[in-house]
Amino acid sequence: MNKIIQLHDKKFILFIPEQEIDQAIRTVAAQLNKDYQEDPPLILVTLNGAIVFAADLLKQIQFSSVLSCIKLSSYQGTQSTDNMKTLIGLNEDVNNKRVLIIEDIVDTGKTYQTLVELLADKGAREIRIATLTMKPDAYKLDLPVHYVGINIPDKFVVGRGLDYDGLGRNLNDIYQLYLDS
Ligand code: IMP
Repeated sequence: MNKIIQLHDKKFILFIPEQEIDQAIRTVAAQLNKDYQEDPPLILVTLNGAIVFAADLLKQIQFSSVLSCIKLSSYQGTQSTDNMKTLIGLNEDVNNKRVLIIEDIVDTGKTYQTLVELLADKGAREIRIATLTMKPDAYKLDLPVHYVGINIPDKFVVGRGLDYDGLGRNLNDIYQLYLDS
């Protein structure tokens, strides 16, 4: 039976079950453990969405890293806007450091690009990104996206940190916007 939930005025239908997401996170964690064992990065979590993925991922990470957070904002409702604001800034020194950005989703890549510019400007030695989900059809950059949990179609999703106007972040499965809503 299809599981449908309601958030605000919209309905969402079950899209990626919890077990599949957990498996994808284990795979990303294994890659990170292999690639960063020798020279750990500073881990930069983008608030609010990536908190949930970062928590799941960090439990499986075997190298010791400094954790920092940053908050940018570009979304209103289910539409991306070009209006990128820094709501909470970077308070760690990244000069000459490897940085691993943790994201919940890479959509157009605008947030990622803004972060890369900011980190490069502050002298980061290497910048990579690990994202729980990515929409390859919406992605507009040439920058590589290094670690991707699950590639998804260009549809609006909620769950595992992803929200619709503040709701849905706590859902363990990922849901997709239901067209009839
Ligand atoms: P980008 O800058 O276009 O790559 O978008 C990245 C940000 O937009 C993410 O960190 C999310 O906050 C938000 N976003 C993009 N797609 C979705 C979605 O399908 N559901 C919820 N939030 C999304």
